[in-house]
Amino acid sequence: MVYLKQQRPEKVTVPAFRTSKERGERLVCLTAYDYPTARIVDEAGTDLILVGDSLGNVVLGYDSTVPVTLDEMVSHTRAVRRGVERALLVADMPYGSYHTGADDAVRAALRLIKEGGAEAVKLEGGKVRAELIRRLVAEEIPVMGHIGLTPQSLHKLGGYRLQGKTTEAARALVEDAHALEAAGVFALVLEVVPREIAKLVTESVKIPTIGIGAGAGCDAQVLVFHDLVGLSFSRTRPRFVRQYANLREAMTEAISRYADDVRSGEYPSEAESYPLPAETAAELNTSPSGDGAVSDAEVERS
Ligand code: KIV
Repeated sequence: MVYLKQQRPEKVTVPAFRTSKERGERLVCLTAYDYPTARIVDEAGTDLILVGDSLGNVVLGYDSTVPVTLDEMVSHTRAVRRGVERALLVADMPYGSYHTGADDAVRAALRLIKEGGAEAVKLEGGKVRAELIRRLVAEEIPVMGHIGLTPQSLHKLGGYRLQGKTTEAARALVEDAHALEAAGVFALVLEVVPREIAKLVTESVKIPTIGIGAGAGCDAQVLVFHDLVGLSFSRTRPRFVRQYANLREAMTEAISRYADDVRSGEYPSEAESYPLPAETAAELNTSPSGDGAVSDAEVERS
């Protein structure tokens, strides 16, 4: 069902995403980390695809995003790039790639864009990142901000917790949003903050906000692909995750059926294997097991 793409066939660009708020559009964002999921997510009409550093948790098996390297991000972004035609492609700058100075950050962002094929980068943090973001934007690198729960600060925060709960923390979030907007971000992720504060932030900035665990008052929403389709192995499921399918169950079921068929000899059938050409069978004094010449085109994979 490739329905959204038909409704919105035009390529999503950074300026189009930024101005979506003026048009009152609620854009759809999802993560992807490899070619097949990128194709599926893009063809279903998703507006923005994020190669998130959540890659660490859901694909690479790390217990946080902290160990994810720039090389890993570049490699996965390249794979996703090959599968995306319409969506805006954004890549996360991993922990450590923008913490050692603006020149290092520019170099890292350029790798994600030139080698990975991303159209923009995302980095975590509030007003402390404003100067760095100004520099990246001045180097023609579109930047998406990310405040609230910032998983790369796991050790500083002491765990994944709701952010902006106190008056002081809520005010700081609003100030962070304003500082990032003034620094030039084209959109802003708000992760795990009270819905009232997310709405307040959304109403006080001109750029679109993208909520994850931040309520319906944001301009757009993002989820981690593996959470949406039930492929996540995390022990707990945050309340904002709505699981639309259970692919883990569907995959396990498919694999067990395959295993049963292999063990019982049901797979492969004759139709799922290739006969020897009759003349070769004759030369070898073997009886042919079927007719049917096999064309090269049948064996070729495209
Ligand atoms: O890494 C990620 O997937 C993210 C989203 C959850 C916003 O940063």
